[in-house]
Amino acid sequence: MPANIVIGTQWGDEGKGKIIDILASRAEVVVRSQGGNNAGHTVVNNGETYKLHLIPSGILYPDKLCLIGAGVVLDPKDFIGELNSLAERGVSTSNLKIDPRAHVVMPWHIVLDGLSEEFRGNSDIGTTKRGIGPTYMDKYERCGIRIYDLINPEVFAEKARATGKLKNKIITEVYGGNAFDLEEVIKEYTEYGKILAPYVADVSVLTYEASKAGKTIMFEGAQATLLDIDFGTYPYVTSSHPLSAGVCVGTGVGPKVITNIIGVAKAYTTRVGKGPFPTELDDETGDKIRNVGGEFGTTTGRPRRTGWFDAVIVRHSVRVNGLDGLAINKLDTLCGLDTLKVCVGYKMPDGNILENFPPTLEELSGCLPVYEEFEGFNEDITGCRSFEELPEACQKYILRLEELCDCKVAMIGVGPDRTQIIER
Ligand code: IMP
Repeated sequence: MPANIVIGTQWGDEGKGKIIDILASRAEVVVRSQGGNNAGHTVVNNGETYKLHLIPSGILYPDKLCLIGAGVVLDPKDFIGELNSLAERGVSTSNLKIDPRAHVVMPWHIVLDGLSEEFRGNSDIGTTKRGIGPTYMDKYERCGIRIYDLINPEVFAEKARATGKLKNKIITEVYGGNAFDLEEVIKEYTEYGKILAPYVADVSVLTYEASKAGKTIMFEGAQATLLDIDFGTYPYVTSSHPLSAGVCVGTGVGPKVITNIIGVAKAYTTRVGKGPFPTELDDETGDKIRNVGGEFGTTTGRPRRTGWFDAVIVRHSVRVNGLDGLAINKLDTLCGLDTLKVCVGYKMPDGNILENFPPTLEELSGCLPVYEEFEGFNEDITGCRSFEELPEACQKYILRLEELCDCKVAMIGVGPDRTQIIER
């Protein structure tokens, strides 16, 4: 009864969707436990591209139970849009369940996300402006609206009126924005509640029962380790725990249920949003990686910042997540580069070399990457299906990443389709 977790090891967008999709095909239950529609998974299946934000990737398989746990924040409007677009393409969502404890992203959360980013000016975080931070703020302030509330019209109206009144005050009096017509919001969202009601079930219980029955479970991570509120590059992080431990709290299962934790990394590094990025390539090589790798945000369309693989970051992820294996994606994107570089340590202004990822932005901003160089490769590797078929330069690169990150490379992605993978 394997229970796999798939986690992002860098700043997100590591191609988790593809690894998740491969593992989902072998699982009976697929669970999402944190984040919201700030996430974006692109899955290519039989030549068809699906962009999912909230619904677990397992939805593409009609027989899987797909669960959205208590730790998720759910924008009902967006979620219903996703349900409809899947229905239009003939994908059934009858096996989808949402925990009643999950919090609802209300329209004022989205507006407040935008207004507070604007207020920060040059010190903005670069959020996805999907209302994620403000929704988690209300959750921890203990004034949030949960899915349970949304599907109970009287409870919902009362809570939305109370919290909405305060939000209107903040929007108008602090930020000078426009107030919401609360009765209109209540009317609109009550309708969403009716659509969501059939999907609501206790995900903690369903996951526990599945585990007891010996079913294979896959927990799909959203965002990534460096976006974790505690172990990421704070404050340039999201508001949840995208770590392996976050899966347990966000689903309501004990850690002993988990049998295998896989971290996904790209063969290089990207990030969206602001904040220090030691191996960033602000040059032609960076542009080439961006264009060949299609490095533009799934959720916002923003061009991603690109850079060399950073083993200091991935080692940090191996430690904080307790990784059992790494999946290295998009190795094919590096084809045609004469030299490949990997950051093996950070040189500090005092000359010291840091081997562990530093806890503060001040330290991270002041460091210079120490690189190891590798011979590049020109062969088309998109058809390779075994490690031995890879050119020698690729094999050397992967074996060295394994040593530097102190973790076995269990999977290597050589193209966007889910068949374009090498399993070791
Ligand atoms: P928020 O999650 O919208 O509050 O954004 C906070 C930071 O996390 C920003 O830098 C976002 O770009 C980043 N972020 C949030 N979700 C994702 C994701 O799924 N992939 C990559 N970056 C993300």
